[in-house]
Parts: sequence; C-alpha cells; structure tokens
Amino acid sequence: MRRVVTSEVLSPARHRWMHGKRVEEADHLVRYVFNQCAKGVSGLGLVNVRVAAQHYCGNVIRKMILGRRFFGEGMEDGGPGFEEEEHVEALFTILGYLYSFCVSDYFPFLRGFDLDGHEKVMKKAMASMKKFHDPIINARIRQGRDGEKEANDLLDVLIRLRDADGGPLLSEDEIKAQIVELMIATVDNPSNAIEWALAEMLNRPETFQQAIEELDRVVGKDRWVQESDISQLNYVKACAREAFRLHPIAPFNVPHVSVSDTTVAGYFIPKGSHVMLSRPGLGRNPKVWDKPLKFKPERHLNNGSEVVLAEPDLRMLSFSTGRRGCVGVNLGSTMTTMLLARLELIWDPP
Ligand code: HEM
Repeated sequence: MRRVVTSEVLSPARHRWMHGKRVEEADHLVRYVFNQCAKGVSGLGLVNVRVAAQHYCGNVIRKMILGRRFFGEGMEDGGPGFEEEEHVEALFTILGYLYSFCVSDYFPFLRGFDLDGHEKVMKKAMASMKKFHDPIINARIRQGRDGEKEANDLLDVLIRLRDADGGPLLSEDEIKAQIVELMIATVDNPSNAIEWALAEMLNRPETFQQAIEELDRVVGKDRWVQESDISQLNYVKACAREAFRLHPIAPFNVPHVSVSDTTVAGYFIPKGSHVMLSRPGLGRNPKVWDKPLKFKPERHLNNGSEVVLAEPDLRMLSFSTGRRGCVGVNLGSTMTTMLLARLELIWDPP
C-alpha cells in the first residue's frame, strides 16, 4: 500500500496535476479570513487561526481526494459549513486517540472491555467519516472502474488502479481505509505548526517583520503568494521549521517495532520492542540546538541555500525518515508553507 500511495497518489506528477485544487483552497483561505475580519464592530472581526488552519488543511485534502470542498452547500464567506465542521472534528478526534495511551494496546486480552472508552469514541468518529465518505465513494465505484470521463481526483485514481491481471488493484474497503488514512495524515501537522509559528512570531515581532519583508521582496504587493514562490521563501520556511522543532503535534512519533535485536547509541533494544522517538526530546536537545527554547528561525538559514522542512538527520522530527518515514513530504511542505505565507500576507495585504 505504501508503494501504491507513493507512486500513484503522492508522486511529483500527481502533485503537479493537483495544483489547481490546492490554489482554489489557498484562495478560499484568504477570502474566509477577509470576511471574518470584515465582521464585528467597526469591521474589527476576529479570526480564529485554529479554525482557519485546520479547515484549510481539511479542504485541500478533501478536494484533492474527493474532488469537492463541501459536502452540502458552499458557504459564501469561504468558511466551513456544518458538514465540514463535523468532518474535521472527527478527523482530529481520530488523531487524538491514535496518539493516546491505550491499555489494550499492551494487554490485548482486555480489548473487548474497552476499559478506557477509546473504542466507543473512535467508532463514533469513524461513523461520522463513513457518513460523509461512503456515499461519494460508493457512487463513484458504481459508475464503473473504467471511467468514461478523465480522472478528476485521487478517488478516481485509486478506483482505476489495475493489478497485473487487469483486475481492480484495490478493494472497496482498501480504498475507504486509505482515504481516511490520507486525510488524518494531512490535517494535523501543518495546521498545528502554523498556529504555533504565528503565536511565536507575534511574541517576537521582528521575526514577523522579516517574514513580511521577504514576502514583499519575493512576491511584491500586486499579487498573492503562490506555490511557485515557495523555493524562495526561505525565511518563511525557517519559521515553519522552527515551529516543528519547538512544538510538535504529539510527544512521540507513531510507535515502531524493532524487527531484530540491535544497539543504538549504546542502548540495547531487543527484537519486538516498541520504539518511540521523543519529538520534543530531539527538537529541544541542548546538545544539538543553541538556546533550544528560543524561537529563532535564523538558525535554519544556511548561507542562502534552500531551506526545507524535512530533517532526515533527525536533529528534530518533522517528517521522520527511513522505511516508515512520511510519504507526504512534498504535499505537507507545500501546504505548510502556503498556509503560513498566505496568513502572513493577510497582515500586510497586497
Ligand atoms: C507537514 C506535514 C506533515 C508532517 C510533519 C508529517 C509527518 C509524518 C511523520 C512524523 C510520520 C511518521 C513517520 C515515522 O513513524 O517514521 C508520517 C507518516 C506518514 N505520513 Fe506524514 N506528515 C505530513 C503530511 C503528510 C501528508 C500531506 C500525507 C499524505 C497525504 C502524509 C502521509 C503519511 C503517511 C501515509 C504516513 C505513514 C507512512 C508509513 O507508515 O509507512 N503525511 N508523517
């Protein structure tokens, strides 16, 4: 499945193919924030950055996979409708429980008792997801796996994949499960990082100023920042990177299991151990980072060479690395940078 996702869903060619859909959502984001600002007494409306960021991520991945932004009617102000609110809430509930400690993970015979109540909550969240996804997926599969029209989104792509004998490569259940997986993998990291980045930048206004200056220089005042600008937005990316370093979404990465006895940094790890990397432990390690608790984007600028959000050396954990490392580095980096750059520009609009 990992191979299928890497080569068919998240390949560079697919990423380019989906560009228009991401742009639509980056534009919706701006429209939503402007409309929020225009509300309220004397036009001084408030923008809930968490809502804007989480829904931007939800909208992008929903549109890329299912080809549509809203399950119901579109909202005129560019913001989320009640279906999207329920959908994003279900995604974050699933993520919260995915990362939490659950006693039956360690004592599987307790599973049926659902002692910590996780199963009940997860079933409800999954029922929410199914309510929205299944009618769309079922209808699309009914239309046929050969598809007369050109593929329009990633669901079409998944449905039309063929195995060596020309039969469908993925079953209906596999498609449904994979769609949930891709959605939960997309929404949390970019939105969390950007919420933190903005909070840190407001506390250090000089970093904000520097980001705005970079945007003015690269983008100018006559247009909105676009994905084609990202390679030149090193300071903006350094701010996002600094947020990943200081404020990871979860304390550990997803658990890995060692496949053989091994020794790492002097520690013996027996085969079958659950290995968890501490994300703050890496990102705030004083042996690696100077003044580790300080938000200092400059530390990521290396003599003009391009800043990237990935960190394969694991001095901090953003996308992780290796056989189970993130397969969405390109999409995740693009969304994170666009989200931050667009929200920054709104402070200083063209
Ligand atoms: C800023 C955005 C993102 C960050 C920081 C991030 C980070 C991560 C991390 C830390 C892991 C676990 C790696 C490990 O355990 O070694 C992971 C796994 C994964 N990510 Fe991402 N991710 C992001 C965006 C995305 C996107 C947009 C997608 C796809 C649409 C995606 C798909 C996946 C998948 C499928 C896995 C599981 C890989 C496997 O188990 O083999 N991620 N990601």
